[in-house]
Amino acid sequence: PPATPNVMIIFGAGGDLTRRKLVPALYHLCAAGLLPESFAMLGLDRLELDDDSFRERIAEKMAESVGDGFSLDVWERLRGRLHYMRIDMLDGQDYEQLCERLTHIDALKQHDEHSTEGNYLFYLAVPPSLFGPITDRLGEVGLLHESDGDWRRVIIEKPFGRDLESAVALNDALHRNMNEEQIYRIDHYLGKETVQNIMVFRFANGFIEPLWNRHHIDHVQITVAESVGVEHRGAYYEEAGALRDMIPNHLLVLLGFLAMDPPNSFEAEAVREEINKVLDAITPLTPEQVLTHAVRGQYGAGTMANGEQVGAYRDSPDVDSESRTETFAALKLQMDNWRWAGVPFYLRTGKRLATQYTEVAIQFKRAPTMMFQDTDTEQLEPDMLVLRIQPNEGIQMSFGAKIPGPKMQVGTVNMDFCYEDYFGNKPATGYETLIYDCMNGDATLFKHADTVEKGWEIVQSVMDVWHALPPRDFPNYQAGTWGPCAAGELLRRDGRRWRRIEHHGVTDTS
Ligand code: BG6
Repeated sequence: PPATPNVMIIFGAGGDLTRRKLVPALYHLCAAGLLPESFAMLGLDRLELDDDSFRERIAEKMAESVGDGFSLDVWERLRGRLHYMRIDMLDGQDYEQLCERLTHIDALKQHDEHSTEGNYLFYLAVPPSLFGPITDRLGEVGLLHESDGDWRRVIIEKPFGRDLESAVALNDALHRNMNEEQIYRIDHYLGKETVQNIMVFRFANGFIEPLWNRHHIDHVQITVAESVGVEHRGAYYEEAGALRDMIPNHLLVLLGFLAMDPPNSFEAEAVREEINKVLDAITPLTPEQVLTHAVRGQYGAGTMANGEQVGAYRDSPDVDSESRTETFAALKLQMDNWRWAGVPFYLRTGKRLATQYTEVAIQFKRAPTMMFQDTDTEQLEPDMLVLRIQPNEGIQMSFGAKIPGPKMQVGTVNMDFCYEDYFGNKPATGYETLIYDCMNGDATLFKHADTVEKGWEIVQSVMDVWHALPPRDFPNYQAGTWGPCAAGELLRRDGRRWRRIEHHGVTDTS
């Protein structure tokens, strides 16, 4: 059914996110009949635009951002509901005008016989330093006050601080004007179909759960590899680095879904509780462990798979020519609980790696003895389940099968499920589900304050040690490879290796 009536107010509507993701997501919701009749979007920014020029600006990128199947008809239906107002986000008086404008939009809609019912969804597509000041001003003019059954919600997106201390301060600032139930923190990995499918795969199928523990699983690998560099985000990235940018948020989302116990229901509270239990069970690395269980890297110039020659990170715009910021991070984490004790989770992520590829690989324990004498056990790959998050979303199981012939020889074969083959290619930005859920008050796929803080707690010791001991070997991997040698060493030391990822003809050789 369509979401509940509302006005979605986007702060920073002149930016890229609005054009590339948010309005296309509204488009997809509109196409699917999930946008309420009584809906309006009000864009806010510093640019001097009116409704018409704002709509023009968005229209320029619509067909491209929506991709295949773009329908002018759907766009026309959405277009008329987009509005714009110029605002200085720090000027309290502008917020008085915002109130008037919203009353006007509400009235317009009532005239239309479709009231937005005073429900407001504020989307803060702005730098995090503005989260506090904006919500303070919204609070002052009463726009965050819920009454008579109407709702007021705020969506924010990472970074939620840059360490534990700043994350706590940010949460405190938000709580000054809202209660936790009004805050919807987006981690866009939670919006990915294949990430959500980890839960479905585990909990909608009876055969998986009995195997999902230390008795059967040898270890887990989580890889989020990007072939892109830092592009135009040098200024942000210099402050963040690969660890902060990806691990306490996106990679821990994957880990949480993989490692959690079955929740009692798919309700926000129940899911969050189980995820938080996983995060609590992760043993933070001691400073000594950081030296061996955490790896950092920075890319130098190199050649990408498509033959493109690319420059070093240090040569990117807005990046210090002696930068010590890491563009690659890998960690070995362990959990202190009954299900996972002794099972390492290896995480790695980086920019300018050989290919754009996100997957989770679960390696099962080997059969206790190999009774087939003609088999070279060294050659035999261990049984592995691979959840491909992106691209080419799917699930692959590799296991041993008899190689045809007179000998009893075992070889590794793959069983492969591809989303696209079954369900077709549904265009989506990943924001559709999240925006729809927020409009309906379902916070299951959003992050609670304590989940954010726990994420930082886990990586804090790594950040501290890395800060105290600046790297001396940067750049230590070439663009277009699989990261620094130390990342391979992290597993080799344990007698393991990263799964070979063959994608677009490039094999992982780490
Ligand atoms: C963002 C990071 O949160 O996630 C980026 O800031 C990164 O650096 C991006 O590129 C990756 O998202 P996706 O959806 O492309 O895997």
